[in-house]
Amino acid sequence: GAPVRVDVSKLEVGQQITVSWRGMPVWIVRRGEEMNNSIPKLSDTVHDFAENAPEYIEDEYRSLRREIGVYVGICTHLGCVPSYRPEVAPADLGDEWLGGFFCPCHGTKYDLAGRVYNNQPAPMNLEVPPNRYEGETTLVVG
Ligand code: FES
Repeated sequence: GAPVRVDVSKLEVGQQITVSWRGMPVWIVRRGEEMNNSIPKLSDTVHDFAENAPEYIEDEYRSLRREIGVYVGICTHLGCVPSYRPEVAPADLGDEWLGGFFCPCHGTKYDLAGRVYNNQPAPMNLEVPPNRYEGETTLVVG
């Protein structure tokens, strides 16, 4: 499939949009500082930040720019589409999870960087698709 170009300059903090790439939903999320701070910094020896991401994605936000997350929106367990739950500590989901993406099928929680939170059914982090920027505002996925 051809690369998808997205102008990310109009994304509001907290906004998530979905684009289609190779028939898959790809989420683009603009994280604010508070959201980035909620990404658990605790070491997780099972799912480190580099898992299921291109090698040039080096930081703990699993993105090229810390304020813009780009993830394939397909649960790595059995392929359901998780929902975006950016609010901190949703009471109905319990525990200490700080929000991110929640898969309704078997309850996997991912953080706002698409990393598996704690001991969940999903075997690995959400995929970070190949991506890069052209200039300041154009994100290229693929
Ligand atoms: Fe998402 Fe099973 S498909 S938790």
